[in-house]
Amino acid sequence: MVTKKKYRLKKDVFLYIAVVIVAIVLVNKGINAYKTYKYHQTTEYKLITVGYSKKDIKILSKNLNDKELLKLTKEKKNDKLVNLMSNKLYLHKHYQDYLDYIDIFPSKTIDEVIKTINLHLNYAFYEDTKPTDLSKEYLIIVNKYNYLDESFSPEDLVTISTKYSWGSPGTHTIRKEVFDAFLKMHEDANQNGIYLMINSSYRDFNSQTIVYNNYLKNHGEAYADKYAARPGYSEHQTGLALDIFSIDGALRNTFKDTPAYAWLKDNSYKYGFIIRYPEGKEDITGFSFEPWHYRYVGIDAAKYIYEKDITLEEYYVYNIDK
Ligand code: DAL
Ligand code: ZN
Repeated sequence: MVTKKKYRLKKDVFLYIAVVIVAIVLVNKGINAYKTYKYHQTTEYKLITVGYSKKDIKILSKNLNDKELLKLTKEKKNDKLVNLMSNKLYLHKHYQDYLDYIDIFPSKTIDEVIKTINLHLNYAFYEDTKPTDLSKEYLIIVNKYNYLDESFSPEDLVTISTKYSWGSPGTHTIRKEVFDAFLKMHEDANQNGIYLMINSSYRDFNSQTIVYNNYLKNHGEAYADKYAARPGYSEHQTGLALDIFSIDGALRNTFKDTPAYAWLKDNSYKYGFIIRYPEGKEDITGFSFEPWHYRYVGIDAAKYIYEKDITLEEYYVYNIDK
């Protein structure tokens, strides 16, 4: 009797445990099914189903909000978009412009697309121009897209003596900090047997008009635009640019082969100057190689630009105009 009771009790306990286990399993299954159901509602899952990896989603999420991400789930994976956003030069403010450009030129590489849009090269030179941002001080950019007003003139111009420049006394002026930097550079170059001379310095709007019109009259517009900036678009008007030659080597077409240029090329950055229109960068600067044209940007920026072998345009886009 007692054994039977014990046996029934044991059976009840087992039954009870079994019921509990089954209940736990079922609840768990239910929870998991619910979790799966919920996960399937997420944008991440939907992106995965159209082909994006978790890594892709991480990259996309850095730049796009949920609504934009959701839009991507309506069509199959856009490889170009992931490549675009993975590129270290990608700037999200140009997102729509990149996409529009890819639509027009689908065979361009992502590097080409990014370079073109970031540097505004989807516009022809002198198209879609704007007044430059003067608050950037020694790092202001004046080029074929960014101009100075006709009336702009720097306030701290000093006269360059004829010891350092050609022409009659008082012909040349330049901003004070630029002149101080030039003097240091002149002295060190002199120690190396090179006597630097300035051929052109600050040019106001009217002087630039004369320079440009001269080229125009003698050689036509295509040539003029390669060698001289249109009035308002010359950085000579900033008072931060100098055309530098050596006393015994002042010919434009041979200057690049002189010891003076060889010295300036690898030393001018130490004084805050950059070669503003380097060889091979004509597509970015819009000007032919000018081994004599030096732009003052300050030592830090000049060192960076020299070491990375980039143009002021590139430096400006990635380091200044953020
Ligand atoms: N030669 C340079 C580009 C100027 O005219 O400013
Ligand atoms: Zn120049």
